[in-house]
Amino acid sequence: MEVVIVQNAAAGGELIADSIAGLLRRKPDALLGVATGSTPLPIYQALTAKVRSGEVDASRARIAQLDEYVGLPAGHPESYRSVVLREVVEPLGLSESSFIGPDGAAEDVQAACEAYDRALAEAGGVDLQLLGIGTDGHIGFNEPCSSLASRTRIKTLTRQTREDNARFFDSPEEVPHHVITQGIGTILEARHLVLLATGEGKAEAIAQAVEGPVAALVPASALQLHPHATVVVDEAAASRL
Ligand code: GLP
Repeated sequence: MEVVIVQNAAAGGELIADSIAGLLRRKPDALLGVATGSTPLPIYQALTAKVRSGEVDASRARIAQLDEYVGLPAGHPESYRSVVLREVVEPLGLSESSFIGPDGAAEDVQAACEAYDRALAEAGGVDLQLLGIGTDGHIGFNEPCSSLASRTRIKTLTRQTREDNARFFDSPEEVPHHVITQGIGTILEARHLVLLATGEGKAEAIAQAVEGPVAALVPASALQLHPHATVVVDEAAASRL
């Protein structure tokens, strides 16, 4: 695992956008796995700027979603599908057809999870998967104690994650209890994993993920098992390394 310490979130976004731009030059139709939350926004802004200035052509890029809330009405502004379309797909000038994600509104959620794992495989697998990290060390929505071999499936959010994500909703009760997430085993199949963490609030989770034992209690520690994993942290998130 490679750990890169940058000065701040903007520098982290720029560094990772450079890496994505390099990938798109080598493989114009690369499948980019994207994460939601506040942390990756500087990556999407930096990448959008590179596309708009003509520094990189992303017109053939494909986008895959990491996770999704279960049960939000179609088109809800905080469904991860809406967020990814708003923050990534539209700014990059891509169409919805370049995007795949799990169906959080499906009647048969289990079937939707299996269909999504199949869709990822049929798309040739994820070339570069962006990840954030929860304050409890989760990746995607794989909460502590998730199996390190897990596939895309339904999960129940912990109280802490629902509280952490309440800021995106009008009231804390609105945060769904259930989600679909790529499993840790699914995530580990991506060819390159890039995790960005910024701020003091992520310092303990980063220390455990990077320097602690590989353990289901800290899902992000699974990155230690991957042959090509990069962890980009700002100075605050690196403060307990
Ligand atoms: C959610 C997402 C994760 C993300 C995490 C941290 O739980 N499912 O993919 O990494 O939030 O979000 P933030 O970057 O806003 O701290």
